[in-house]
Amino acid sequence: MKALNMKDSKAPASPYSLGRNLALETVRVTEAAALACSRWMGLGDENAADQAAVDAMRTALNGLDIQGTVVIGEGERDKSPMLYIGEKVGSGNGPEVDIALDPLEGTTICATGAPNALAVVAITHKGGFLRAPDVYMNKIAIGGGYPDDLIDITATPQKNLKELAKAKKCALSDLLVVILNRPRHAEMIAKVRETRARIQLIGDGDVAGIIAATRPETGVDIYMGIGGAPEGVLAAAALACCGGQMQGQLMFTTSGAGDKEIDAAQKDNAKRMGITDLKKIYTLEELANGDVMFAATGVTTGWMLTGVKRYAGGAETHSISMRARTGTTRFVNAQHNFERKEEV
Ligand code: FBP
Repeated sequence: MKALNMKDSKAPASPYSLGRNLALETVRVTEAAALACSRWMGLGDENAADQAAVDAMRTALNGLDIQGTVVIGEGERDKSPMLYIGEKVGSGNGPEVDIALDPLEGTTICATGAPNALAVVAITHKGGFLRAPDVYMNKIAIGGGYPDDLIDITATPQKNLKELAKAKKCALSDLLVVILNRPRHAEMIAKVRETRARIQLIGDGDVAGIIAATRPETGVDIYMGIGGAPEGVLAAAALACCGGQMQGQLMFTTSGAGDKEIDAAQKDNAKRMGITDLKKIYTLEELANGDVMFAATGVTTGWMLTGVKRYAGGAETHSISMRARTGTTRFVNAQHNFERKEEV
């Protein structure tokens, strides 16, 4: 079992400080989003669930004393009416911050009642998050406490798993690898199976998959594969707080398979967002740095968080709050009384 050791972790020492209370206040934002979309769990309506989470998260964000700009959000302004990239949020007082968010990470998960749907927000100083375009990202991540540069996104899965097993002093067959269950990963899955490492295929939700690799209680050792780039930045924000290693590379294809189907529009868009080297491999620090604060609330029950429990007159939520500057991780269990405040 690996230890979470902040001294050994790659969490950067940051000259930025945003104020410790903000980390706790941010939990209210993810609680509000999770409570709102939990009403739609299992009802098969992804859009309604997402919209409920977006509306609630926006209202809650505007209650924070920040001058916030959404840099990882619901998409571009013309495609999403709320929490779009560039939208200003917060009361207008307090520090100037960049915000990465996903009001409902795992819309299909929520709509089908599957595990690991989350409401997620991360905050840092201006410029502290990679402004990732809405494309795919190849990602690899492990927890903290390992030798530096143990994983290498350009190496084969076999090589990475061998190094990890060596560092953990365990057999390859003891490892647990999380991979999104997609046809694009068929070759990688076959290569991992050759090593006899165990695999947990997930239907959706790679933010939870990556964070799981940092938490001993999940049994997950490593995350590998291609998912959304915005989700990559959100996961990196979490790892910047709790420690871990991660690399990401943007994938400009319509299929996410890294094949010939290069989408010129995606590349243009990336350039517009300031990305000059389209093949760059991003380190954890390049994905998320500074006094990062990360909060997530479980919508459905998953590896780390219990989902929203609703009962007569209220609901219970379970959240995680982390801060890079101090390395503190808190689990926040809250009972919400709808008789004393308006139901969300
Ligand atoms: P949504 O919340 O937008 O539905 O994203 C879910 C998700 O599974 C992410 O966790 C993941 O990064 C991405 O979709 C993978 O994309 P795709 O479903 O296109 O393979």
